[in-house]
Amino acid sequence: MTTGIRGRFISFEGIDGAGKSTQHQWLVEHLRAQGREVVATREPGGTPLGEKLRALLLAEPMQLDTEALLMFAARREHVELVIRPALARGAWVVCDRFIDASMAYQGGGRGLSTTRLSQLAQWTVGDLKPDLTLLFDLPVDIAMARLFAGTQNPDRFEREQAEFFERVRATYLTIAASEPHRVRVIDAGLSLSEIQVILENIIASL
Ligand code: TYD
Repeated sequence: MTTGIRGRFISFEGIDGAGKSTQHQWLVEHLRAQGREVVATREPGGTPLGEKLRALLLAEPMQLDTEALLMFAARREHVELVIRPALARGAWVVCDRFIDASMAYQGGGRGLSTTRLSQLAQWTVGDLKPDLTLLFDLPVDIAMARLFAGTQNPDRFEREQAEFFERVRATYLTIAASEPHRVRVIDAGLSLSEIQVILENIIASL
């Protein structure tokens, strides 16, 4: 980056029902209150085309490879049109899910080849990685109970069985163990205010 003012890239991850979306909103407000330009975005989605792909991904039955390819197609639009330009002008990007979600859901959950997914990742985003990933971790039974309590019309992923989410969760935790400097595991069973104190401390150290 020629300006030397590249912003920060923070991603939120976790199994469905872990409560990351509430915390995502909170962190965006917290950073804005500090006077920063914050781009709040999500995957799949974040661009007009990406949001159309999201609607298909969450609703339409499809081949597992098709699902992975559409996730990465949406991501390519998002990275080129939103994330890289925002970071280049010094904004902070706070993204609800990124590549780790593909590794956890399509790799761990669906069982697709990690090598292939890594090749797609390299093609799609090159060496772009979040500076910080907040992994909201919760036992699957608790997350599923929260999901059933809070969701009227579960989407294609939310309708999956507990075993699927166990594999997703295990993959997330493996990623976290292999990249402890980037990925911070947050106990999503703590109260909202306890989690917010933890987030404040992590952000202060960024
Ligand atoms: P999610 O963040 O759970 O949206 P919401 O909170 O509005 O339900 O994301 C939608 C789903 O997409 C989620 O179940 C995980 C899935 N997903 C993947 O399978 N792979 C990916 O690469 C991404 C980004 C998401």
